[in-house]
Amino acid sequence: MTALLDGKALAATMRAELAGKVTAFAARHGRAPALAVVLVGDDPASHVYVASKVKQTAEIGMRSVEHRLDASCTEAELLALVDALNADPAIDGLLVQLPLPPQINAASVLNRIDPAKDVDGFHPVNAGKLAIGEAGLVPCTPLGAVALAKLARADLAGLHAVVIGRSNIVGKPVAQLLLQENCTVTIAHSRTMDLPGLCRSADLLVAAIGRPNFVTAEFVKRGAIIIDVGINRVMSADGKARLVGDVDFAAAAPLASAITPVPGGVGPMTIAFLLSNTLRAASLRLG
Ligand code: GUN
Repeated sequence: MTALLDGKALAATMRAELAGKVTAFAARHGRAPALAVVLVGDDPASHVYVASKVKQTAEIGMRSVEHRLDASCTEAELLALVDALNADPAIDGLLVQLPLPPQINAASVLNRIDPAKDVDGFHPVNAGKLAIGEAGLVPCTPLGAVALAKLARADLAGLHAVVIGRSNIVGKPVAQLLLQENCTVTIAHSRTMDLPGLCRSADLLVAAIGRPNFVTAEFVKRGAIIIDVGINRVMSADGKARLVGDVDFAAAAPLASAITPVPGGVGPMTIAFLLSNTLRAASLRLG
């Protein structure tokens, strides 16, 4: 039997625990932790994600502040807003939703965020701390992916983990976290030779490619744990849009010992860890 790794349920459990900790924080410090979310432009998916982030922040009793800038805004305007939020003592966490419009250099913006408020964990200081195993703020989606893998098997030590995808946001930090869990980690990507053959040697397969249904049965070792980070919008035969992962679920699931669904797997975990990172940043800042 294949276990379904229910991210929706685990995220709900995490939020309930966080709500209690937020209450305790507010009692101690006289205010709730506060998250600032900056949204630039009109990317429809970004609007949906930001709305979820703001709603869930409020639901566990934290304060959220949303800043919207026009798609035509300049990099200087966005950097000025980041500077103001960095300097604001009432703000504990700060994220700038990606992607940004083409006139803005995303790296310049991410580098400007105070690492102590960087709840996305994208600042080079936090990426560097993760790489050397120091405590910092860790990216949310990788934390969610690893938490779900540990739901399947509490001790991941010694497993061969293959991560497909080498992005700074998912692939590389997931690999770092799995190394901390004592996995043997291989990072695969679009230039990897015999990708299906390599993946068939994985006890734990993490798909973070951004291509719908890319991972088919020929990628899967019998009994593997499969974590699907992909969220792809595709058109069904009936003309309706639906979300699918990077893994062909119907083909891969029967071979796996455990697998995440899409939707309802890694996606909800990302926001749960954003809330957790915000509380953590607030606690570290206020002591
Ligand atoms: N766009 C897609 N995923 C993310 C994320 O985790 N953080 C931010 N800031 N933007 C994103």
